[in-house]
Amino acid sequence: MPDAPMTPAGAPVDARIAGWRTRTDIALQRALDTCEGGDPRLLAAMRHAVLLGGKRMRPLLVHATAHALGAAADAADAPATAVELVHAYSLVHDDLPAMDDDALRRGQPTVHVAFDEATAILAGDALQTLAFSTLAAGTALPDAARLQMVAVLAEATGASGMCGGQALDIAATGAGTIGLPALERLHALKTGALLRASVTLGALAAGVDASTRARLDTFAGALGLAFQIRDDLLDIEGDSHTLGKTAGKDVAQDKATFPALIGVDGSRRRLAELAQQMHDALASFGPASQPLAELGRRAIERDH
Ligand code: IPE
Ligand code: IPE
Ligand code: MG
Ligand code: MG
Ligand code: MG
Repeated sequence: MPDAPMTPAGAPVDARIAGWRTRTDIALQRALDTCEGGDPRLLAAMRHAVLLGGKRMRPLLVHATAHALGAAADAADAPATAVELVHAYSLVHDDLPAMDDDALRRGQPTVHVAFDEATAILAGDALQTLAFSTLAAGTALPDAARLQMVAVLAEATGASGMCGGQALDIAATGAGTIGLPALERLHALKTGALLRASVTLGALAAGVDASTRARLDTFAGALGLAFQIRDDLLDIEGDSHTLGKTAGKDVAQDKATFPALIGVDGSRRRLAELAQQMHDALASFGPASQPLAELGRRAIERDH
């Protein structure tokens, strides 16, 4: 992506992350532009889902991992875009009446509220396929890396990843019977899988070996679980305005969450353990891993 903004070498961590965020937003715009010519209402719903806010945590993880391993940002553009498109699709479907039945997302009406339910289902479907066509078109990458990325993203998204976790979530809602190991698995799948995949995609963009990918996966596994525990806590402690989504829904819907199972203090203790695990997992990486460490910190300390 040659005309994307360049962040100077040695820029402070926050400026570097902000640069990747801008870069991600440009790349997402471009990916959506490739759909021009399709149904205008469907395209408007897709743009609504992708372009109106969001922290961009997953694409930032792709960029920060690639950077930690010495890769050029160009190599991370396609996988970063693809994983955010899958994430945006997952949010559109998560909010549907048949799932969490939510009316507010990223400070906006959810897609089925702003448009209609059928359009929201189709927008989610089309965002998912756009993710894979974007990855397939990632010309800054060797063919073998692109193929591996397609497999990683597909596995993290599907029945043994995010969708599988969402199925466990729906089954556990209102059931009141889940134990801690099952809840950890549910969270690791519904939310952790895409966050872990983001780190793996960044590592594949850098072309590192499987043992380096495995070391980073320890970091990413802790981050993925921490991210959802923080989400569970924010549902209790946050307000809808700051969150940009409806607070207090998990208790109202009897969702399986960490605070429901081990309490708010127990959840905070688990977050502190995961912060330590993230820190230890990155210890052997050099100063270029600072943005990645900062994203781990934000996963735990974020207020929305
Ligand atoms: C929300 O994800 C859904 C979860 C997996 C917890 P984010 O908190 O990353 O949402 P956005 O992308 O910033 O809106
Ligand atoms: C969402 O978990 C996980 C997804 C795969 C989208 P939640 O249902 O807790 O996410 P929010 O709170 O609606 O963002
Ligand atoms: Mg949900
Ligand atoms: Mg939800
Ligand atoms: Mg939630």
